Amino acid sequence: AQRKQIDKVLALFQLTREQLDGVQHKMRAELEYGLKRKTHALATVKMLPTYVCGMPDGTEKGKFLALDLGGTNFRVLLVKIRSGRKSVRMYNKIFAIPLEIMQGTGEELFDHIVQCIADFLDYMGLKGAQLPLGFTFSFPCRQTSIDRGTLVGWTKGFKATDCEGEDVVDMLREAIKRRNEFDLDIVAVVNDTVGTMMTCGYEDPNCEIGLIAGTGSNVCYMEEMRNIELVEGDEGKMCINTEWGGFGDNDCIDDIRTQYDKEVDEGSLNPGKQRYEKMTSGMYLGEIVRQILIDLTKQGLLFRGQISERLRTRGIFETKFLSQIESDRLALLQVRRILQQLGLDSTCEDSIVVKEVCGAVSRRAAQLCGAGLAAIVEKRREDQGLEHLKITVGVDGTLYKLHPHFSRVLQETVKELAPRCDVGFMLSEDGSGKGAALITAVAKRLQQPRK
Ligand code: BG6
Ligand code: GLC
Repeated sequence: AQRKQIDKVLALFQLTREQLDGVQHKMRAELEYGLKRKTHALATVKMLPTYVCGMPDGTEKGKFLALDLGGTNFRVLLVKIRSGRKSVRMYNKIFAIPLEIMQGTGEELFDHIVQCIADFLDYMGLKGAQLPLGFTFSFPCRQTSIDRGTLVGWTKGFKATDCEGEDVVDMLREAIKRRNEFDLDIVAVVNDTVGTMMTCGYEDPNCEIGLIAGTGSNVCYMEEMRNIELVEGDEGKMCINTEWGGFGDNDCIDDIRTQYDKEVDEGSLNPGKQRYEKMTSGMYLGEIVRQILIDLTKQGLLFRGQISERLRTRGIFETKFLSQIESDRLALLQVRRILQQLGLDSTCEDSIVVKEVCGAVSRRAAQLCGAGLAAIVEKRREDQGLEHLKITVGVDGTLYKLHPHFSRVLQETVKELAPRCDVGFMLSEDGSGKGAALITAVAKRLQQPRK
Protein backbone atom coordinates (compact mmCIF):
# COMPACT_ATOMS: atom_id res chain seq x y z
CA ALA A 1 0.00 0.00 0.00
CA GLN A 2 2.86 2.36 0.85
CA ARG A 3 4.41 1.70 -2.54
CA LYS A 4 1.14 2.60 -4.23
CA GLN A 5 1.00 5.94 -2.45
CA ILE A 6 4.56 6.75 -3.45
CA ASP A 7 3.93 5.74 -7.06
CA LYS A 8 0.89 7.96 -7.14
CA VAL A 9 3.02 10.97 -6.31
CA LEU A 10 5.77 10.03 -8.76
CA ALA A 11 3.17 9.55 -11.52
CA LEU A 12 2.31 13.25 -11.34
CA PHE A 13 5.74 13.93 -12.81
CA GLN A 14 5.56 11.43 -15.65
CA LEU A 15 4.50 13.32 -18.73
CA THR A 16 2.84 11.55 -21.63
CA ARG A 17 3.77 12.18 -25.23
CA GLU A 18 0.51 14.12 -25.65
CA GLN A 19 1.37 16.36 -22.74
CA LEU A 20 4.81 17.07 -24.14
CA ASP A 21 3.31 17.81 -27.57
CA GLY A 22 0.96 20.18 -25.80
CA VAL A 23 3.84 22.01 -24.13
CA GLN A 24 5.65 22.32 -27.46
CA HIS A 25 2.60 23.75 -29.21
CA LYS A 26 1.76 26.18 -26.45
CA MET A 27 5.34 27.38 -26.35
CA ARG A 28 5.21 27.93 -30.10
CA ALA A 29 2.05 30.01 -29.74
CA GLU A 30 3.61 32.12 -26.97
CA LEU A 31 6.73 32.75 -29.07
CA GLU A 32 4.49 34.13 -31.83
CA TYR A 33 2.49 36.36 -29.43
CA GLY A 34 5.72 37.81 -28.10
CA LEU A 35 6.89 38.79 -31.57
CA LYS A 36 3.65 40.51 -32.63
CA ARG A 37 3.16 44.19 -31.93
CA LYS A 38 -0.44 43.72 -30.83
CA THR A 39 0.19 40.95 -28.29
CA HIS A 40 3.79 41.68 -27.26
CA ALA A 41 2.99 43.70 -24.14
CA LEU A 42 0.83 40.92 -22.74
CA ALA A 43 3.03 37.99 -23.74
CA THR A 44 4.39 35.82 -20.95
CA VAL A 45 7.33 34.79 -23.13
CA LYS A 46 8.73 38.29 -23.53
CA MET A 47 10.70 37.85 -26.78
CA LEU A 48 13.07 40.76 -26.15
CA PRO A 49 15.06 42.16 -29.09
CA THR A 50 18.79 42.26 -28.25
CA TYR A 51 20.17 44.39 -31.10
CA VAL A 52 22.73 41.67 -31.72
CA CYS A 53 22.43 41.09 -35.45
CA GLY A 54 25.32 38.96 -36.46
CA MET A 55 27.94 36.50 -35.38
CA PRO A 56 31.56 37.44 -34.85
CA ASP A 57 33.51 36.97 -38.09
CA GLY A 58 36.99 36.42 -36.71
CA THR A 59 38.26 39.94 -37.38
CA GLU A 60 37.43 41.12 -33.86
CA LYS A 61 40.40 42.15 -31.78
CA GLY A 62 41.43 44.10 -28.72
CA LYS A 63 41.32 44.06 -24.93
CA PHE A 64 37.98 44.11 -23.18
CA LEU A 65 36.56 43.98 -19.72
CA ALA A 66 33.49 41.84 -19.11
CA LEU A 67 31.15 41.51 -16.16
CA ASP A 68 29.11 38.38 -15.67
CA LEU A 69 26.25 38.83 -13.19
CA GLY A 70 23.28 36.60 -12.50
CA GLY A 71 24.46 32.98 -12.43
CA THR A 72 26.06 31.01 -9.61
CA ASN A 73 29.15 33.22 -9.73
CA PHE A 74 29.72 36.90 -10.27
CA ARG A 75 32.85 37.32 -12.33
CA VAL A 76 34.94 40.15 -13.67
CA LEU A 77 37.01 39.25 -16.72
CA LEU A 78 39.71 40.64 -18.93
CA VAL A 79 39.39 39.20 -22.43
CA LYS A 80 42.11 39.60 -25.05
CA ILE A 81 41.03 38.79 -28.57
CA ARG A 82 43.52 38.39 -31.40
CA SER A 83 42.09 38.37 -34.90
CA GLY A 84 43.16 35.99 -37.62
CA ARG A 85 44.08 33.05 -35.46
CA LYS A 86 40.90 33.43 -33.48
CA SER A 87 42.74 33.23 -30.23
CA VAL A 88 41.11 34.46 -27.05
CA ARG A 89 42.88 34.76 -23.72
CA MET A 90 40.90 35.33 -20.56
CA TYR A 91 41.72 36.26 -17.01
CA ASN A 92 38.96 36.29 -14.47
CA LYS A 93 38.19 36.59 -10.81
CA ILE A 94 35.10 35.36 -9.01
CA PHE A 95 33.53 37.61 -6.40
CA ALA A 96 30.80 36.82 -3.92
CA ILE A 97 27.55 38.73 -3.86
CA PRO A 98 26.25 38.44 -0.33
CA LEU A 99 22.53 37.83 0.10
CA GLU A 100 22.03 41.20 1.77
CA ILE A 101 23.44 42.86 -1.35
CA MET A 102 21.33 40.76 -3.74
CA GLN A 103 18.26 41.79 -1.82
CA GLY A 104 19.34 45.23 -0.58
CA THR A 105 19.10 48.52 -2.46
CA GLY A 106 20.06 48.97 -6.10
CA GLU A 107 22.71 51.51 -5.15
CA GLU A 108 24.36 49.05 -2.79
CA LEU A 109 24.31 46.35 -5.45
CA PHE A 110 25.91 48.52 -8.12
CA ASP A 111 28.42 50.03 -5.68
CA HIS A 112 29.44 46.49 -4.79
CA ILE A 113 29.85 45.58 -8.48
CA VAL A 114 32.06 48.63 -9.03
CA GLN A 115 34.07 47.75 -5.93
CA CYS A 116 34.72 44.31 -7.45
CA ILE A 117 35.78 45.90 -10.77
CA ALA A 118 38.17 48.15 -8.85
CA ASP A 119 39.67 45.14 -7.03
CA PHE A 120 40.06 43.31 -10.31
CA LEU A 121 41.74 46.24 -12.08
CA ASP A 122 44.08 46.56 -9.12
CA TYR A 123 44.83 42.87 -9.15
CA MET A 124 45.54 42.88 -12.90
CA GLY A 125 47.65 46.04 -12.63
CA LEU A 126 45.24 47.84 -14.94
CA LYS A 127 44.21 50.78 -12.82
CA GLY A 128 43.64 53.82 -14.98
CA ALA A 129 43.27 51.79 -18.17
CA GLN A 130 40.18 52.87 -20.09
CA LEU A 131 38.84 49.66 -21.54
CA PRO A 132 35.59 48.94 -23.37
CA LEU A 133 33.26 46.87 -21.22
CA GLY A 134 30.64 44.25 -22.04
CA PHE A 135 28.10 43.57 -19.31
CA THR A 136 26.51 40.12 -19.13
CA PHE A 137 23.41 40.77 -17.09
CA SER A 138 21.32 37.61 -16.84
CA PHE A 139 17.89 39.11 -16.29
CA PRO A 140 15.13 40.30 -18.63
CA CYS A 141 15.97 43.69 -20.15
CA ARG A 142 14.02 45.73 -22.66
CA GLN A 143 16.63 47.08 -25.05
CA THR A 144 16.46 49.89 -27.58
CA SER A 145 20.10 49.53 -28.60
CA ILE A 146 23.02 47.30 -27.74
CA ASP A 147 24.13 49.56 -24.87
CA ARG A 148 20.78 50.32 -23.27
CA GLY A 149 18.61 47.92 -21.29
CA THR A 150 15.79 48.51 -18.84
CA LEU A 151 15.34 45.80 -16.24
CA VAL A 152 11.84 44.38 -16.66
CA GLY A 153 11.88 42.54 -13.34
CA TRP A 154 14.30 40.59 -11.17
CA THR A 155 14.26 36.80 -11.40
CA LYS A 156 16.04 33.97 -9.53
CA GLY A 157 17.55 35.09 -6.19
CA PHE A 158 17.81 38.84 -6.82
CA LYS A 159 15.47 41.46 -5.44
CA ALA A 160 17.42 44.71 -5.05
CA THR A 161 15.15 47.74 -4.73
CA ASP A 162 14.85 50.67 -7.18
CA CYS A 163 16.18 48.78 -10.20
CA GLU A 164 13.08 47.54 -12.00
CA GLY A 165 12.19 49.91 -14.82
CA GLU A 166 15.67 51.48 -14.69
CA ASP A 167 18.44 51.28 -17.27
CA VAL A 168 21.13 48.94 -15.96
CA VAL A 169 23.88 50.62 -17.97
CA ASP A 170 22.96 53.98 -16.43
CA MET A 171 22.97 52.42 -12.97
CA LEU A 172 26.44 51.01 -13.60
CA ARG A 173 27.72 54.33 -15.01
CA GLU A 174 26.37 56.23 -12.02
CA ALA A 175 28.02 53.83 -9.59
CA ILE A 176 31.33 54.30 -11.44
CA LYS A 177 30.86 58.07 -11.18
CA ARG A 178 30.08 57.85 -7.46
CA ARG A 179 33.34 56.06 -6.89
CA ASN A 180 35.16 58.62 -9.04
CA GLU A 181 38.27 56.48 -9.44
CA PHE A 182 38.21 55.21 -13.02
CA ASP A 183 36.27 55.54 -16.21
CA LEU A 184 34.94 52.73 -18.37
CA ASP A 185 33.34 52.72 -21.77
CA ILE A 186 30.24 50.49 -21.41
CA VAL A 187 29.57 49.29 -24.93
CA ALA A 188 27.12 46.40 -24.60
CA VAL A 189 24.65 44.81 -22.22
CA VAL A 190 24.07 41.16 -22.98
CA ASN A 191 21.91 38.34 -21.61
CA ASP A 192 23.82 35.16 -20.62
CA THR A 193 22.00 33.16 -23.30
CA VAL A 194 23.26 35.64 -25.91
CA GLY A 195 26.79 35.57 -24.53
CA THR A 196 26.72 31.77 -24.64
CA MET A 197 25.44 31.70 -28.22
CA MET A 198 28.24 34.07 -29.22
CA THR A 199 30.93 32.12 -27.39
CA CYS A 200 29.88 28.97 -29.24
CA GLY A 201 29.19 30.84 -32.50
CA TYR A 202 32.81 31.92 -32.60
CA GLU A 203 33.74 28.26 -33.18
CA ASP A 204 30.65 27.03 -35.03
CA PRO A 205 28.82 29.31 -37.49
CA ASN A 206 25.78 27.01 -37.28
CA CYS A 207 25.23 28.05 -33.70
CA GLU A 208 22.10 30.21 -33.76
CA ILE A 209 20.60 29.31 -30.40
CA GLY A 210 21.85 29.88 -26.84
CA LEU A 211 20.44 27.79 -23.99
CA ILE A 212 20.99 28.17 -20.25
CA ALA A 213 19.98 25.37 -17.91
CA GLY A 214 21.46 26.59 -14.67
CA THR A 215 20.21 28.60 -11.72
CA GLY A 216 17.61 29.88 -14.18
CA SER A 217 16.34 28.61 -17.52
CA ASN A 218 16.28 30.61 -20.76
CA VAL A 219 16.88 30.55 -24.50
CA CYS A 220 17.84 33.05 -27.20
CA TYR A 221 17.93 32.48 -30.95
CA MET A 222 18.44 34.29 -34.24
CA GLU A 223 15.07 35.39 -35.64
CA GLU A 224 14.21 36.85 -39.05
CA MET A 225 13.90 40.64 -38.82
CA ARG A 226 10.66 40.51 -40.80
CA ASN A 227 9.07 38.53 -37.95
CA ILE A 228 10.12 41.00 -35.26
CA GLU A 229 7.33 43.57 -35.44
CA LEU A 230 8.79 45.70 -32.67
CA VAL A 231 11.94 46.58 -34.57
CA GLU A 232 12.05 48.56 -37.82
CA GLY A 233 13.41 46.83 -40.89
CA ASP A 234 12.91 43.50 -42.62
CA GLU A 235 16.40 42.57 -43.69
CA GLY A 236 18.60 40.03 -41.97
CA LYS A 237 18.26 38.57 -38.50
CA MET A 238 18.37 39.68 -34.90
CA CYS A 239 18.91 37.68 -31.75
CA ILE A 240 15.80 37.45 -29.56
CA ASN A 241 16.08 36.80 -25.83
CA THR A 242 12.92 34.76 -25.31
CA GLU A 243 12.84 34.85 -21.47
CA TRP A 244 10.91 31.60 -21.74
CA GLY A 245 11.12 31.18 -17.97
CA GLY A 246 7.87 33.16 -17.81
CA PHE A 247 6.04 30.60 -19.95
CA GLY A 248 2.93 29.47 -18.09
CA ASP A 249 2.47 32.69 -16.11
CA ASN A 250 -0.94 32.96 -17.84
CA ASP A 251 -1.95 29.51 -16.50
CA CYS A 252 -1.50 27.84 -19.91
CA ILE A 253 0.41 24.89 -18.46
CA ASP A 254 -1.60 24.55 -15.27
CA ASP A 255 -2.75 21.12 -16.43
CA ILE A 256 0.72 19.75 -15.71
CA ARG A 257 1.63 21.84 -12.66
CA THR A 258 1.41 19.87 -9.44
CA GLN A 259 0.60 21.05 -5.92
CA TYR A 260 4.37 20.89 -5.27
CA ASP A 261 5.07 23.30 -8.11
CA LYS A 262 2.50 25.64 -6.66
CA GLU A 263 4.06 25.47 -3.22
CA VAL A 264 7.50 26.24 -4.64
CA ASP A 265 6.06 29.19 -6.54
CA GLU A 266 4.25 30.56 -3.51
CA GLY A 267 7.34 30.34 -1.32
CA SER A 268 9.58 32.07 -3.87
CA LEU A 269 10.74 35.70 -4.16
CA ASN A 270 8.50 36.23 -7.20
CA PRO A 271 5.23 34.33 -6.74
CA GLY A 272 3.18 33.83 -9.90
CA LYS A 273 6.15 34.59 -12.12
CA GLN A 274 8.64 32.39 -14.02
CA ARG A 275 6.50 29.28 -13.65
CA TYR A 276 8.26 27.28 -16.38
CA GLU A 277 11.64 28.29 -14.92
CA LYS A 278 10.45 27.00 -11.56
CA MET A 279 9.80 23.57 -13.12
CA THR A 280 13.03 23.39 -15.09
CA SER A 281 15.97 25.13 -13.43
CA GLY A 282 18.57 24.43 -10.77
CA MET A 283 17.40 27.02 -8.29
CA TYR A 284 14.01 25.30 -7.95
CA LEU A 285 14.35 21.55 -8.65
CA GLY A 286 15.68 20.89 -5.17
CA GLU A 287 12.78 22.87 -3.75
CA ILE A 288 10.27 20.71 -5.63
CA VAL A 289 12.02 17.63 -4.26
CA ARG A 290 11.85 19.06 -0.75
CA GLN A 291 8.12 19.76 -1.05
CA ILE A 292 7.48 16.19 -2.18
CA LEU A 293 9.59 14.78 0.65
CA ILE A 294 7.66 16.87 3.17
CA ASP A 295 4.38 15.54 1.79
CA LEU A 296 5.57 11.91 1.75
CA THR A 297 6.78 12.32 5.32
CA LYS A 298 3.41 13.76 6.34
CA GLN A 299 1.79 10.70 4.82
CA GLY A 300 4.12 8.60 6.98
CA LEU A 301 5.94 7.18 3.97
CA LEU A 302 9.39 8.61 4.72
CA PHE A 303 11.74 9.51 7.58
CA ARG A 304 9.54 7.61 10.06
CA GLY A 305 6.91 10.28 9.62
CA GLN A 306 9.07 12.91 11.34
CA ILE A 307 9.49 16.26 9.58
CA SER A 308 12.82 17.59 10.80
CA GLU A 309 13.80 21.24 11.04
CA ARG A 310 16.27 20.60 8.21
CA LEU A 311 13.57 19.36 5.88
CA ARG A 312 11.68 22.56 6.57
CA THR A 313 14.70 24.63 5.53
CA ARG A 314 14.48 26.28 2.13
CA GLY A 315 17.26 25.71 -0.39
CA ILE A 316 18.97 22.67 1.17
CA PHE A 317 18.94 20.61 -2.04
CA GLU A 318 21.32 22.43 -4.34
CA THR A 319 21.88 21.23 -7.90
CA LYS A 320 25.16 19.62 -6.91
CA PHE A 321 23.42 17.43 -4.32
CA LEU A 322 20.67 16.38 -6.73
CA SER A 323 23.37 15.51 -9.24
CA GLN A 324 25.24 13.41 -6.71
CA ILE A 325 22.13 11.61 -5.50
CA GLU A 326 21.20 10.68 -9.05
CA SER A 327 24.63 9.54 -10.09
CA ASP A 328 24.41 5.91 -11.23
CA ARG A 329 27.78 5.12 -9.78
CA LEU A 330 26.66 5.95 -6.31
CA ALA A 331 25.70 3.15 -3.95
CA LEU A 332 22.66 3.71 -1.78
CA LEU A 333 24.88 3.91 1.24
CA GLN A 334 26.49 6.96 -0.33
CA VAL A 335 23.08 8.48 -1.01
CA ARG A 336 22.38 8.07 2.69
CA ARG A 337 25.67 9.76 3.44
CA ILE A 338 24.70 12.77 1.31
CA LEU A 339 21.34 12.97 3.05
CA GLN A 340 23.21 12.77 6.32
CA GLN A 341 25.38 15.70 5.21
CA LEU A 342 22.20 17.62 4.52
CA GLY A 343 21.10 16.83 8.05
CA LEU A 344 18.53 14.19 7.07
CA ASP A 345 18.60 10.84 8.84
CA SER A 346 17.45 8.15 6.44
CA THR A 347 16.90 4.42 6.35
CA CYS A 348 17.91 2.42 3.31
CA GLU A 349 14.30 2.46 2.05
CA ASP A 350 14.16 6.22 2.53
CA SER A 351 17.21 6.69 0.36
CA ILE A 352 15.64 4.65 -2.45
CA VAL A 353 12.53 6.83 -2.38
CA VAL A 354 14.54 10.06 -2.26
CA LYS A 355 16.52 8.97 -5.29
CA GLU A 356 13.32 8.15 -7.17
CA VAL A 357 11.83 11.52 -6.32
CA CYS A 358 14.94 13.35 -7.53
CA GLY A 359 14.86 11.28 -10.74
CA ALA A 360 11.22 12.06 -11.46
CA VAL A 361 11.65 15.80 -10.89
CA SER A 362 14.82 16.20 -12.95
CA ARG A 363 13.53 14.01 -15.78
CA ARG A 364 10.38 16.09 -16.08
CA ALA A 365 12.54 19.25 -16.08
CA ALA A 366 14.70 17.95 -18.92
CA GLN A 367 11.66 16.86 -20.93
CA LEU A 368 9.90 20.20 -20.47
CA CYS A 369 13.03 22.03 -21.50
CA GLY A 370 13.33 19.72 -24.53
CA ALA A 371 9.73 20.41 -25.54
CA GLY A 372 10.43 24.15 -25.38
CA LEU A 373 13.54 23.80 -27.48
CA ALA A 374 11.67 21.64 -30.00
CA ALA A 375 9.24 24.55 -30.47
CA ILE A 376 12.14 26.89 -31.28
CA VAL A 377 13.95 24.66 -33.78
CA GLU A 378 10.70 23.75 -35.54
CA LYS A 379 9.87 27.44 -35.87
CA ARG A 380 13.28 28.12 -37.37
CA ARG A 381 12.86 25.23 -39.80
CA GLU A 382 9.42 26.35 -40.95
CA ASP A 383 10.41 30.03 -41.21
CA GLN A 384 13.23 29.11 -43.55
CA GLY A 385 10.99 26.80 -45.58
CA LEU A 386 13.30 23.86 -45.04
CA GLU A 387 12.50 20.16 -45.15
CA HIS A 388 15.38 19.55 -42.77
CA LEU A 389 17.20 21.96 -40.51
CA LYS A 390 20.70 21.53 -39.17
CA ILE A 391 21.40 23.80 -36.24
CA THR A 392 23.69 24.05 -33.23
CA VAL A 393 22.66 25.08 -29.73
CA GLY A 394 25.32 26.63 -27.49
CA VAL A 395 24.65 25.53 -23.91
CA ASP A 396 25.76 26.53 -20.45
CA GLY A 397 24.60 26.21 -16.86
CA THR A 398 25.29 24.05 -13.83
CA LEU A 399 22.22 21.86 -14.27
CA TYR A 400 23.21 20.91 -17.82
CA LYS A 401 26.85 20.47 -16.93
CA LEU A 402 26.69 18.74 -13.54
CA HIS A 403 23.58 16.61 -13.66
CA PRO A 404 24.17 13.00 -14.76
CA HIS A 405 20.99 12.64 -16.90
CA PHE A 406 19.56 16.08 -17.64
CA SER A 407 21.45 16.73 -20.89
CA ARG A 408 20.71 13.28 -22.32
CA VAL A 409 16.98 13.40 -21.59
CA LEU A 410 16.79 16.94 -22.98
CA GLN A 411 18.48 15.87 -26.22
CA GLU A 412 16.34 12.75 -26.59
CA THR A 413 13.19 14.81 -26.14
CA VAL A 414 14.18 17.34 -28.80
CA LYS A 415 14.95 14.52 -31.22
CA GLU A 416 11.58 12.94 -30.63
CA LEU A 417 9.51 16.11 -30.79
CA ALA A 418 11.37 17.75 -33.68
CA PRO A 419 12.35 14.82 -35.92
CA ARG A 420 13.03 17.00 -38.95
CA CYS A 421 15.69 18.98 -37.15
CA ASP A 422 19.23 17.82 -36.68
CA VAL A 423 20.15 19.62 -33.46
CA GLY A 424 23.74 19.66 -32.24
CA PHE A 425 24.64 20.69 -28.71
CA MET A 426 27.85 22.54 -27.99
CA LEU A 427 28.98 23.18 -24.45
CA SER A 428 30.24 26.65 -23.77
CA GLU A 429 33.57 26.15 -22.09
CA ASP A 430 34.26 29.77 -21.31
CA GLY A 431 30.94 30.98 -19.97
CA SER A 432 29.16 33.93 -21.45
CA GLY A 433 31.80 36.52 -20.56
CA LYS A 434 33.79 35.65 -23.66
CA GLY A 435 30.67 36.13 -25.79
CA ALA A 436 29.99 39.48 -24.16
CA ALA A 437 33.53 40.56 -25.06
CA LEU A 438 33.04 39.42 -28.66
CA ILE A 439 29.78 41.35 -28.91
CA THR A 440 31.55 44.37 -27.43
CA ALA A 441 34.30 44.01 -30.04
CA VAL A 442 31.77 43.92 -32.87
CA ALA A 443 29.83 46.88 -31.44
CA LYS A 444 33.08 48.82 -31.03
CA ARG A 445 34.05 48.11 -34.64
CA LEU A 446 30.64 49.28 -35.89
CA GLN A 447 30.93 52.44 -33.75
CA GLN A 448 34.26 53.53 -35.25
CA PRO A 449 33.18 55.10 -38.57
CA ARG A 450 30.69 57.31 -36.76
CA LYS A 451 33.34 58.89 -34.59
C1 BG6 B 1 27.98 30.73 -16.91
C2 BG6 B 1 27.79 32.06 -17.54
O1 BG6 B 1 28.96 30.00 -17.49
O2 BG6 B 1 26.73 30.07 -16.94
C3 BG6 B 1 26.81 32.86 -16.71
O3 BG6 B 1 29.01 32.75 -17.71
C4 BG6 B 1 25.53 32.11 -16.67
O4 BG6 B 1 26.62 34.12 -17.21
C5 BG6 B 1 25.77 30.74 -16.16
O5 BG6 B 1 24.55 32.81 -15.92
C6 BG6 B 1 24.51 29.94 -16.03
O6 BG6 B 1 24.77 28.94 -15.15
P1 BG6 B 1 24.48 28.93 -13.59
O7 BG6 B 1 24.25 27.48 -13.36
O8 BG6 B 1 25.71 29.44 -12.92
O9 BG6 B 1 23.28 29.77 -13.35
C1 GLC C 1 16.47 33.87 -15.68
C2 GLC C 1 16.66 35.25 -16.28
C3 GLC C 1 17.21 35.16 -17.68
C4 GLC C 1 18.46 34.31 -17.70
C5 GLC C 1 18.17 32.94 -17.08
C6 GLC C 1 19.41 32.05 -17.03
O1 GLC C 1 15.47 33.22 -16.40
O2 GLC C 1 15.44 35.96 -16.26
O3 GLC C 1 17.51 36.45 -18.18
O4 GLC C 1 18.92 34.14 -19.01
O5 GLC C 1 17.67 33.12 -15.78
O6 GLC C 1 20.43 32.60 -16.27
